[in-house]
Amino acid sequence: MPIAHDRYAVFGQPIKHSKSPRIHQLFAEQTGQSLVYTAQEVSAEQFAASAAAFFAEGGKGLNCTVPLKELAWAFADRKTERAQLSKAANTLVLQADGAILGDNTDGHGLITDLITNHAIALSGTRVLILGAGGASRGIIGPILDQSPKSLTIANRTTDKAYRLATEFSSKGVITGCGFDDLQHLQFDLIINATSASLNDQIPPLTKGSLAAKGYCYDLAYGDKPTPFVQWGWNNHALKSLDGLGMLVEQAAEAFFIWRGIRPKTQAVINLLNSERRL
Ligand code: ATR
Repeated sequence: MPIAHDRYAVFGQPIKHSKSPRIHQLFAEQTGQSLVYTAQEVSAEQFAASAAAFFAEGGKGLNCTVPLKELAWAFADRKTERAQLSKAANTLVLQADGAILGDNTDGHGLITDLITNHAIALSGTRVLILGAGGASRGIIGPILDQSPKSLTIANRTTDKAYRLATEFSSKGVITGCGFDDLQHLQFDLIINATSASLNDQIPPLTKGSLAAKGYCYDLAYGDKPTPFVQWGWNNHALKSLDGLGMLVEQAAEAFFIWRGIRPKTQAVINLLNSERRL
């Protein structure tokens, strides 16, 4: 009789290059858990039916990535507080009563990578987020929880930045604007949450936007430095990082929610870094 492993998966489009199956496999080996984690190409149109089928066939948990996080949020029967706030879910969990819980571990992943892995404190700093889509939604609440001096959201479509800032205004000092409004402003941390990196592009940033000894962080990652990571280097960032660390940390939090065991992340981050084809 074959052993029945608990089944997990990541849904997204595109999904071919996802590192999530590898990361969860490494976590499972490290913690002695037996599970299967696969990657499945699922379009927005297919999502609800595919997710329902996955759980109906005994699946225990799902990660959802671009472009499915808002749909995953809508699919969930219940939401954690942080998912409720972000209106996006990257983690779905089958509950004992059969209901599906939606959570969002992206913000936790980013904050852990910044603070624990890179000693970048946010308290009292000026933070700029580029982009006002689903990726930004997931990180705004956790960033405001760190009490930055200010949080600015800049977006190509200015209205979306205004709306996002209004939505989170009760949580901290947050302003929305367009890229043109960034001239003459300086930030201690600039986070790229646009999808521009996926097309090898970069939002239009002004030289001088990054304060001396400032940091840059791209939520995207790749085998090569993203254009935004390179922008950080060219603008004398103390550190200019891509989102590989965040990816591993959000996965660790999802693994903890599913399995009740918190995997160690640094060895996994080191391994994935060593495998990059730089
Ligand atoms: P995600 O869920 O990854 O955030 P999204 O909701 O489609 O994806 O949002 C993509 C974000 O990247 C948006 O803020 C988008 O700007 P618009 O709202 O104006 O469309 C931004 N974006 C994408 N390509 C960009 C580019 N080349 N330059 C600047 N911003 C870009």
